[in-house]
Amino acid sequence: MPGSPAAAPDTVLVVDFGAQYAQLIARRVREARVYSEIVPSTMPVAEILAKNPAAIILSGGPSSVYAEGAPRLDRALFEAGVPVFGMCYGFQLMAATLGGTVDNNGAREYGRTELHVSKVSSTLFEGTPAEQPVWMSHGDACSAAPEGFSVTASTDLVPVAAFENDEKKLYGVQHHPEVMHSTYGQQVLEHFLYRGAGIKPTWTTGNVIEEQVAAIRAQVGDKRAICGLSGGVDSAVAAALVQKAIGSQLTCVYVDHGLMRKGETEQVEKDFVAATGANLKVVDAEERFLNALAGVSDPEEKRKIIGREFIRVFEQAQLEILQEDGPEVAFLVQGTLYPDVVESGGGTGTANIKSHHNVGGLPDDIEFELVEPLRQLFKDEVRMVGQELGLPAEIVQRQPFPGPGLGIRIVGEVTKDRLDLLREADAIAREELTAAGLDTEIWQCPVVLLADVRSVGVQGDGRTYGHPIVLRPVSSEDAMTADWTRMPYDVLAKISTRITNEVADVNRVVLDVTSKPPGTIEWE
Ligand code: XMP
Repeated sequence: MPGSPAAAPDTVLVVDFGAQYAQLIARRVREARVYSEIVPSTMPVAEILAKNPAAIILSGGPSSVYAEGAPRLDRALFEAGVPVFGMCYGFQLMAATLGGTVDNNGAREYGRTELHVSKVSSTLFEGTPAEQPVWMSHGDACSAAPEGFSVTASTDLVPVAAFENDEKKLYGVQHHPEVMHSTYGQQVLEHFLYRGAGIKPTWTTGNVIEEQVAAIRAQVGDKRAICGLSGGVDSAVAAALVQKAIGSQLTCVYVDHGLMRKGETEQVEKDFVAATGANLKVVDAEERFLNALAGVSDPEEKRKIIGREFIRVFEQAQLEILQEDGPEVAFLVQGTLYPDVVESGGGTGTANIKSHHNVGGLPDDIEFELVEPLRQLFKDEVRMVGQELGLPAEIVQRQPFPGPGLGIRIVGEVTKDRLDLLREADAIAREELTAAGLDTEIWQCPVVLLADVRSVGVQGDGRTYGHPIVLRPVSSEDAMTADWTRMPYDVLAKISTRITNEVADVNRVVLDVTSKPPGTIEWE
């Protein structure tokens, strides 16, 4: 893989004991400008050490260290001379493995807890207050530290809430320093990295750009690459990075299916090209998609049609690029992110994909090697890279938008008139949310047209019989769960007034006040 992360110097490995803490820890380490990667707790210790980490962090997890089947660690991990920091479950595992005592003494602590630091001059706590709020989440507790460790903090219920053995470079805390509610958590983590492990904070997204540019050049050589642009952040940043590396050897393809929001196609056509200088092939396929969608109201059916047509059009564009004069087209660029890599098992190998060419007329033996320059990055880091590459804020800060576009935000049949109407309403909502400074607070705000519903209204002198528009502002961290955003009434009022005044055939605006679950974010 380009810039193989295992080989990066000063890499901190976060051993993942489950429950989603590991990703947050890895992000916090990177915020401290130290490169980090996640490895599963099932990875043998020899393999972890073979990666030559500068330090190791043991994450929290849902188990009890003495429970049957709970993840364990070979003692060798603590004897290799590599600095180790255990947090929560990782702390208890370190204690239990090295001869300390962990038991279930009823000292459960969940949520905000006061930590009493007994050694403010310790490696982890120096410069932090003797009393500090931390975030706890544990049933078991450590009652005796292993030999050679000094206890550095306690809570009202837990006698050993932090310990360290400076000589062996082993550190642990019962709480979750990675969580925002642990006020000095980032400082404690940085103390471990810089003071405990002696790592210098040199990693930045700027380094990523340099590294990736070199790696992409080495991978692609003098061949050509294709990148599909969706209008979303990930594909735009991946394309910009590859463009920086190989310039005109890259061709980007953007399929305009006519289901985009107002101004989006222009944004890709003008702003993206202006910022990157990329070769862009825009395929105007609106008519084709609308014809294929005619008469269809079922959401799953719509999704299938949009997906199918998309592949056909994209492959046709690929075929045209393949037929142009020039070096072999051997690479396909994809905006895969680190969470996708972790969630799919963390493989670091180079994948080949065979294009689905049963419909587009591509030759049978076409195989692309993938270029995935964002495989090491979290979403916020992708945004930073995009910003450093000079992409406009409108692209880099975009909220998530589904691939099938407005096609799944019309409940009912998709027609050109309805799309135009929804585009207007959506543009008004976006404009007002931005003007109110709500873009970062709101995860995304689908605007939905209930095309099959009409209701009576009154406007001007007459009765109307128009459609409702639904506003669906949600707050979320990962779109898996979401809550409806408690938006200021005056902003809602402004959006409602403008939509009913400015968008013909709409006489009501309603607010969706359902969380996910039970609702989904999109209506469809
Ligand atoms: P739901 O509606 O399932 O949406 O709560 C969760 C998140 O996924 C987005 N979404 C999609 N994104 N292609 C995408 O790239 C799709 O087909 C698609 N469908 C839903 C949705 O906008 C939300 O962020």
